[in-house]
Amino acid sequence: MATSIKNSLILLTFLAFIIIQGFCDCSLNNINIGTVRSGREIKGKPEWEVTVINNCSCSQSKIQLSCKGFQSSESVDPSVFAKQGDSCLLVNGGPLKAFSSVNFSYAWDPPFLLLPSSSLVGHDCS
Ligand SMILES: *[C@@H]1O[C@H](CO)[C@@H](O)[C@H](O)[C@H]1NC(C)=O
Ligand SMILES: *[C@@H]1O[C@H](CO)[C@@H](O)[C@H](O)[C@H]1NC(C)=O
Repeated sequence: MATSIKNSLILLTFLAFIIIQGFCDCSLNNINIGTVRSGREIKGKPEWEVTVINNCSCSQSKIQLSCKGFQSSESVDPSVFAKQGDSCLLVNGGPLKAFSSVNFSYAWDPPFLLLPSSSLVGHDCS
């Protein structure tokens, strides 16, 4: 008897987990990065405007992009995009809310391929 109650609880917990996951189906795949040329040149290098969008209904924080070798002839605000070795931390590791975006500019030739490498999906889903 006690065992079957315990089993039901485990099953319920499991189902609840699946339901919550279903509502909050966010991952790195929902971090979309767009890079466009701004048309300006900074110290002889073309400038690029990068927009990072959390295209999902839950916030994501601690967003890191792989940015091996990243450099810029224009200073980039480290509170928005900070290079830490081969990866770069977005907005100081703070949350990028559901469907919100952040942008920054850098200048280099050629542009860097920035890809999301890790994030923490929040529970505050809309
Ligand atoms: C957001 O995700 C949807 C569905 O995957 C996609 O069609 C849309 O282009 C994405 N939006 C952006 C700004 O990346
Ligand atoms: C971010 O985007 C806005 C609106 O397009 C633009 O005015 C601003 O200059 C951009 N910021 C950076 C740092 O590129």
